[in-house]
Amino acid sequence: MTPVIELLCQHRSIRKFTDQPIDQATLETLIQAGQAAATSSFIQACTVIQVNDSHKREQLAQWAGPQAYVAEAPQFLVFCADMKRHQLMCQIHDAPMESGFTEQFLTASLDCGLFAQNLMVAAESLGLGGVYIGGLRNRIEAVADLLELPELVYPVFGLCLGYPAQNPEVKPRLPVSVVLKQDRYDDSQDVATIREYDQVVREYYATRSGGTKDMSWSEQISGMLSKEARPHMLPFLQQRGFLNK
Ligand SMILES: Cc1cc2nc3c(=O)[nH]c(=O)nc-3n(C[C@H](O)[C@H](O)[C@H](O)COP(=O)(O)O)c2cc1C
Repeated sequence: MTPVIELLCQHRSIRKFTDQPIDQATLETLIQAGQAAATSSFIQACTVIQVNDSHKREQLAQWAGPQAYVAEAPQFLVFCADMKRHQLMCQIHDAPMESGFTEQFLTASLDCGLFAQNLMVAAESLGLGGVYIGGLRNRIEAVADLLELPELVYPVFGLCLGYPAQNPEVKPRLPVSVVLKQDRYDDSQDVATIREYDQVVREYYATRSGGTKDMSWSEQISGMLSKEARPHMLPFLQQRGFLNK
């Protein structure tokens, strides 16, 4: 184990924060740590909107759930997959951009994930904590309008950041044998292994300090995946210039 691996394995989402602010210089250092992540073909397709305006924060908190911590966190960032500046660069070089490819959507979205997770780990290394907010996609069109996002830019998720005012237990992950396969995809043992893992998760939920519940992992996942998943996403993305080819 290295200190970095220990830090990674201690991750847990933080949803309650102290009043201690994060100064702008620290935030910009975290942004640089995010930018340092690998980026597909050097495309650098992530733009972060730092939301300071308290009215916008309240509105986003409502649309996301409501999830009060979106308004309460010392910092709230929205990670946007952004192909707009690339369009500008193509214009500069008289090379009309072929936009709308699924490949571009994938690489821009991946860039956001890698950028954000670098930033999250950097934040955790400074004693900060945070939680991603996919709930923004409940009302993605309204979020895009509120933040004045142009075509070829879409909000992938938000991130609350601050100094933790809670100390939640680490959430147990799937056994390595389920997520690491040798040479081919063999899931013949997975159901049995996941049944054992279900007990671990049930125990975690039954005993955790931040609110208990009686639920296994497979129950949680099957409940979630037997419902529609934000069906407005495809038309929204297509209208914004993504996923058309
Ligand atoms: C892209 C993404 C979106 C998420 N959206 C939300 C959210 O809207 N609200 C929330 O409370 N947690 C959200 N989470 C946090 C997950 O619920 C959390 O990471 C997961 O349950 C594992 O818990 P842990 O982070 O404490 O290990 C999100 C996580 C990711 C990666």
